[in-house]
Amino acid sequence: MFYIFIITFLVLVQIYLIFKSYSFISDFFNSKKIKKLSYLIITIIIGYLNFSFIVSITISHSNNLKSSDLFYYGFLYPGGVWQGMSILLFFIFLLKDKLVLFYKYFMYIMKKLYRLKYKETKVNVSESRRKFLKGLSASLALPPIIGSVYGATMQSSNFVINKKRIKFCFLPDKLKGLKIAQLSDIHAGIYLRKKKILEAVEITNSLNPDIIALTGDYVSNSGRYIYPCIEALSLLRPKLGIYSCIGNHDNWVNRDLIIDGLKSAEIKILINENQKIEYNGYDFYIAGIEDPWYAKPDLKKTLKYIPEDSFKILLSHQPILFDDAEKEKVNLTLSGHTHGGQIAIPVLGMPLNIVMFVTPYVSGLFLKNESYLYVNSGIGFTGPPFRMNVPPEITLITLV
Ligand SMILES: [Fe+2]
Repeated sequence: MFYIFIITFLVLVQIYLIFKSYSFISDFFNSKKIKKLSYLIITIIIGYLNFSFIVSITISHSNNLKSSDLFYYGFLYPGGVWQGMSILLFFIFLLKDKLVLFYKYFMYIMKKLYRLKYKETKVNVSESRRKFLKGLSASLALPPIIGSVYGATMQSSNFVINKKRIKFCFLPDKLKGLKIAQLSDIHAGIYLRKKKILEAVEITNSLNPDIIALTGDYVSNSGRYIYPCIEALSLLRPKLGIYSCIGNHDNWVNRDLIIDGLKSAEIKILINENQKIEYNGYDFYIAGIEDPWYAKPDLKKTLKYIPEDSFKILLSHQPILFDDAEKEKVNLTLSGHTHGGQIAIPVLGMPLNIVMFVTPYVSGLFLKNESYLYVNSGIGFTGPPFRMNVPPEITLITLV
């Protein structure tokens, strides 16, 4: 049912945009020949991008996961970016049309209310002024087009390394200096290839971490991509080990395949359980909890047998479990899932994103009583394969 809804919506968006483009062309050009040629060009471009998207989806569920750079950048990736871009365009034009309609009704009602003589007067709008207004309307397409292309090229390719020194009130001296690198939401798939994960691995190793925490969503929409993902992650070289929890996409796509893949790379998967780790001759605990969407998180079980005064780190894919973790005196919770909103639009200097309406824990560091939460913005994508003002992130936390 969900897929039928999504496919119907995407098809309607494409039809809407084709007719919108036709309407702009029809208003701008007088020559019939140019109009016909423009209709043809627009139809070919939108057709090409949609064909590319269909091929991408088909390939992502096939066994052939490899594609050349030319095929990827010239064909597959533009189709994915277009789907995201077209949704932005759709909402912008829909909003504009609704605002214009609202303005017309508002003016009509005001005139009626104030008993002003409402007389339909025909205003002679010059051809050049009409074209100018149409041009202004069409120019609304520029921000999403430029933003999507920039987000798909520049902003998605450069990692940001967030180094955080977190000061705890009661940190045992022997744990001071412990370095934890966190990677999250890799979303390996048709739009996030092994090359990108290898880059993240190389950067993470260069940070020389003691522990590496992986906080879920290793694949996007096909379990097969766990293989290239694992090939890259197996090159991680922390001093003490790699610990992980499972994300909602992993459970949704193919939980068993993901778990087997992680195990094969000697990555410790913590499923409602914890592990004692020794550092500088001192024991502390790292725990991992199930994702609440497609599995059953059990915090009591996850923290079972951990001595009360021990230092505890919890890996929880979704930050929503932080409030419960804080009550259980977990010292540090590491999460992902939000992608930092993935697309943040600056409004009055504030980065506005859709996730901020769902959770207060969008990205970064949070403190509640004596318990910390860090939400990593992730590496890959959900939905459109681009990021805007939320670059892919690698976190390095040092306990002080
Ligand atoms: Fe995710």
